[in-house]
Amino acid sequence: MLGWLIRTASSSIGKKALMALTGLLLIGFLVVHLAGNLTFYMDGDGAAFDSYAETLESNPLLPLAEFGLLVLFVTHIVLALRVTKQNRDARKSRYAVRATAGGSTAGSRSMVITGIVLLVFLVVHIMDFRLQNDGTESMAALVREELSAPLGAGLYAVAMLALGLHVSHAFKSAMQTLGCNHPKYTPLIEKVSLGLGIVLGLGFLSFPLVIFFLGGSAAGGQA
Ligand code: HEM
Repeated sequence: MLGWLIRTASSSIGKKALMALTGLLLIGFLVVHLAGNLTFYMDGDGAAFDSYAETLESNPLLPLAEFGLLVLFVTHIVLALRVTKQNRDARKSRYAVRATAGGSTAGSRSMVITGIVLLVFLVVHIMDFRLQNDGTESMAALVREELSAPLGAGLYAVAMLALGLHVSHAFKSAMQTLGCNHPKYTPLIEKVSLGLGIVLGLGFLSFPLVIFFLGGSAAGGQA
């Protein structure tokens, strides 16, 4: 398995296919993560969100799921950096004649920029909600505290706009890399890609906006 992974990750096409696959799995994680986070809006005091977080944390399989998630994120990010470098090197070489054969397009440039914003966000996010939380504080209170500060809300808002843009391009790009390229299905795949970007981007963006401007009152904010 590890040998296969290393061999695949060292070929150019293999890198792109693994990036596409890990990207699609990460989109799956984001759909589940957003659905879980939406429990924040379910009641007035954040109890539903806290009980969701407690259920997650008490699941004995959580460390395994977290490890899997870590592997997905690290693989996706490392491959993205390597493919970007490969494309940049190819552009410098006289053999690179077509933008799509290793060059940069507006879409791929935006992926690099939004990807970097998301990487910074992810580090801050894990430190805020995963490492800082010792299990004694209410998760809803922690989220409210973080996103009611201008800096926290601002960072989350910018990152969630980047997330929307990243996903709206990512899904169709991954499907194409994995060979789903057909005149009949491509228009539908493009619509799904845009839809996912909008739903995930706006869904996650709602948290910094609601909490900052309404004090999280949709979920029992004390403001
Ligand atoms: C406003 C948007 C978001 C909010 C309010 C939010 C909230 C949270 C919370 C409260 C946790 C801790 C869960 C727990 O330990 O019980 C968490 C974990 C996490 N979030 Fe988010 N999240 C947001 C967006 C995102 C995005 C966009 C990503 C990915 C790009 C992401 C990736 C993660 C990861 C990887 C974890 C750690 C999961 C684990 O170790 O169990 N989150 N988030």
